[in-house]
Formats: sequence, C-alpha cells, structure tokens
Amino acid sequence: MIKNLLELEITEHSPPLEISRSFDQQGPLEIEVGCGKGRFLLSRASSVPERNFLGLEYAKAYFATIARRACAKNLSNVRVAKAEAYEFFETFLPDQSLSGFHLLYPDPWPKKRHHKRRLIRDDFLWELRRTLRRDAVINIATDHRAYFDWMCEHFNHWKATFVLETKIVSERKDLLKLTGRTNYEIKYIEEGRPLHFITGYRTGF
Ligand SMILES: C[S@@+](CC[C@H](N)C(=O)[O-])C[C@H]1O[C@@H](n2cnc3c(N)ncnc32)[C@H](O)[C@@H]1O
Repeated sequence: MIKNLLELEITEHSPPLEISRSFDQQGPLEIEVGCGKGRFLLSRASSVPERNFLGLEYAKAYFATIARRACAKNLSNVRVAKAEAYEFFETFLPDQSLSGFHLLYPDPWPKKRHHKRRLIRDDFLWELRRTLRRDAVINIATDHRAYFDWMCEHFNHWKATFVLETKIVSERKDLLKLTGRTNYEIKYIEEGRPLHFITGYRTGF
C-alpha cells in the first residue's frame, strides 16, 4: 500500500512525463540516479520540503525500504521509479524540467570494454544540459579515481554550461569529518578510501 503511493510506474505514463501530476505539491524537481536504499534522497527531501524528489533505481528491491522510511519521516515529496537513467532522461523528461541532479557513488565500470556503460558520457551530458534548468544543482561523488578523472574530462567539454568545483578528501581525519550521506559513503569513510566530489550548477548556456 505505502509502496504503491511512492512508486511512479513509468509504464503507465506516456512521454513526456507530466511529473508534477505525480506529486502532491507543485515545486522544483530534483533527481537522484541510483538512489539505493534512499538515505540521501530522503534526507534531502526532508531538508528541502518545498521541492519534489525522484529517485531512479534499477533495483526495485529497495523500494519497500524507501517507502517505509519516507512514511516514518512523514515525507510526501518523494517518488521512486524503476528505470535506467539515460533512457528515462531521453524518453520521459521535458526540457528544463530539473532543478537538481545527484549521482552518488555510481557504478564505475572499471574495465575498458565497459566504459561505454558509464553514465557520465557525452550523450548523457547532452541530456543533462537539455533537462537541467539554469542554476540547477549538480552533486556527484565517487570513490573511484579513474571514473572521477573521466567525469572531469567529459564535463570539461561543456565548461560554459556546467560550472563545477572538484574536491578530493583522502586524509583519514578529513574523511571522518564527513557526514556519510549514503550507505556506500558511510562504508567508504570507514574503509578510509579517498572520496572525490564534483559539485556546481548549470549556467544559462
Ligand atoms: C554503487 S550503488 C550506490 C548506491 C547509493 N547511491 C549509495 O551511494 O549508497 C549504485 C546504484 O545505482 C544503481 N544504478 C546503476 N546504474 C544505474 C542506471 N543507469 N540507472 C538507474 N540506476 C542505476 C544500481 O542499481 C545501484 O543501486
């Protein structure tokens, strides 16, 4: 019952998605790709209640946990959809429909023959440019140095469009100061892995 209230069944929608109809309130929309068990999604939804939040996730098995936690926190501004992120952006999202994009600890696909599966690639960045509004926030983190370098290089092709700062936290004492926003982030902090952050916003170009 709770689960049905939270899950956005994209097969029941014809594109482009009229996303505001899926939420109780009108408001800016932020998306988190690969939201896992929803720790970050729910925490951000709770701190910015006037915004709506959509988590995209392949793994539907997490949805019951997210729904239970959303219910416990009394959050009505969160939805989740079982979808592949690139296909979802390309098929369902109208131009300039997003005010935020979050991608925390995405699968790094380390083998060269799998690099084409990385989400941050030229065709996805084209979609990000199309769907993000001016001033929309961008929030990315990875523990994987090679994927971080790859992402920086790909965003560099769009310097006028995405204004980004990068930060690497590698000292144990600095890692321990981090809050641990997602399950993977908590695990990596405990393991003492260097973490890489890319944050910023979309310009009007
Ligand atoms: C490494 S986990 C990180 C989960 C969470 N963000 C965290 O930090 O705890 C990556 C998650 O992204 C999901 N995922 C990977 N690629 C995806 C894609 N293209 N579209 C939607 N979900 C994806 C996976 O199912 C998995 O749950």
